[in-house]
Amino acid sequence: MHVITIASGKGGSSKTTLTASLAVLAATEARVGLIDLNRDQATLTAWAEQRGDDNLQLVEGIKSLLTDIRLLKRSGEIDWLFIDTPPTRVETIEGALVAADLVIMPSRASALDIAALVPVVQLCKSRKKKFVIVLAAVNPARRDLNDAATEELESLGELIGRTTDKTAQVEAMSMGKVGFELDKSLRAELVRIWNTIKQKVGAT
Ligand SMILES: Nc1ncnc2c1ncn2[C@@H]1O[C@H](COP(=O)(O)OP(=O)(O)OP(=O)(O)O)[C@@H](O)[C@H]1O
Ligand SMILES: [Mg+2]
Repeated sequence: MHVITIASGKGGSSKTTLTASLAVLAATEARVGLIDLNRDQATLTAWAEQRGDDNLQLVEGIKSLLTDIRLLKRSGEIDWLFIDTPPTRVETIEGALVAADLVIMPSRASALDIAALVPVVQLCKSRKKKFVIVLAAVNPARRDLNDAATEELESLGELIGRTTDKTAQVEAMSMGKVGFELDKSLRAELVRIWNTIKQKVGAT
């Protein structure tokens, strides 16, 4: 079982949207578990319940994250476990980082979003956790901003891809779907990110 934590230290950075998209791709090939640690909003939980996909199993009632993950691993029932995190609860984020084989950090292009990533990058480094960065919800028209963000993010870690700002991403989530199921043009960018993740955890 590979454990992937999605974290950014910033609200609205596209953590849940990215988690759902990656989980849908993973579920076409394997059995996927989802842990929603953003209990205040429980957006991923609501999405997964609405989707009702047998290959996407919500793992609920977590008491001790590390122990529960060890038990899940031992059960052999899940191949990929995705952990969605809250924006600001540092202890929760740190626990989810520690549990991960790989941390995915989505960031929007603004300087404030990128600044919020820095403490999470530092946590990963101090915990010796592998992490990668995704530039999320990119508006292609804002080239200067995107170029500056790319340079900044590349100075923090490995930038493995971008997702595009499209209404389909928003609409899909409220229907238990993901963006690329409504707008096929969004699929390639997600597949690229997913393939890199598999490579990073040695799953290819
Ligand atoms: N690629 C995208 N294109 C357009 N809208 C997006 C995209 N990704 C996310 N959004 C929208 O941005 C908002 C925040 O996204 P999301 O809930 O995934 O972020 P989050 O990081 O999980 O937020 P939180 O920290 O509050 O949990 C949502 O309204 C979502 O629909
Ligand atoms: Mg969220």
